[in-house]
Amino acid sequence: MVALLQVRDLNKRFSGVQAIFDLSFEVTQGSITSIIGPNGAGKTTLINMISGFFRPSDGDILFNGEPLSGLKPHQVAARGIARTFQTVELFGRMTVLENVMLGRHLKSRKGLISAAFRLPGVLREEMDIKTRSLSLLKTVGIADYAQMKAANLPLGEQKLLEVARALASEPRLLLLDEPAAGLNEVETQKAAEMIMGLSERGITVILVEHDMKIVMSISDEILVLNYGAKIAEGPPASIRKDPGVIKAYLGDE
Ligand SMILES: Nc1ncnc2c1ncn2[C@@H]1O[C@H](COP(=O)(O)OP(=O)(O)O)[C@@H](O)[C@H]1O
Ligand SMILES: [Mg+2]
Repeated sequence: MVALLQVRDLNKRFSGVQAIFDLSFEVTQGSITSIIGPNGAGKTTLINMISGFFRPSDGDILFNGEPLSGLKPHQVAARGIARTFQTVELFGRMTVLENVMLGRHLKSRKGLISAAFRLPGVLREEMDIKTRSLSLLKTVGIADYAQMKAANLPLGEQKLLEVARALASEPRLLLLDEPAAGLNEVETQKAAEMIMGLSERGITVILVEHDMKIVMSISDEILVLNYGAKIAEGPPASIRKDPGVIKAYLGDE
């Protein structure tokens, strides 16, 4: 079976910095793969390339066997890849529910414009989107906040809302950039359980995360980057005792 995601000989150069260096790896359908590495290792750059926000300098990214090269972020999303951002990006003056519905409108048949103008025939679809969006809020555990302005949510819940909005496009692959950053221990545990729940529903997850407790407890595979290059990959048990990883990364914890 072909891997859901294949990254081949990927490079990304910014002026003066090589953020990703000859990187190749595969992500199996249904797995949770964590990407770890020190600050500046290239993790977010990699997520940006997979999701179409950055063009690779060279190399290929294949999703479901098909190259993503040249696709814009919304086209990558339409193929079935959704993401969240390291820094939360929500519409603060809209309600929690509306933020998720917006993610859904991007996918819906009649689309954003007709929804905005309330064209005939849209009402039913609108109700449908509302119901689905509420159920996504339940999935990530923040349905109680549905009518609150997004800006008023605590950070932990804002991060969960970002996940709900990403899920609204019904992705096969979900890219999470530091979902636990800034969360307390209880919130972190909740986020970890939520991610495992998504995996159980068949969504493949790529997780960029500094919290080693989460990474070690929920990952099937871990990919370790240092200065843009892969220095190790494997299941948590082998990464934990990899001398190169300990030196580059875990050592400074
Ligand atoms: N848009 C950009 N322009 C120039 N350099 C960038 C840009 N984005 C990231 N970089 C550089 O690429 C390297 C990797 O950054 P990043 O992918 O954000 O690392 P990480 O997410 O692992 O902390 C860093 O040296 C960073 O300064
Ligand atoms: Mg980053």
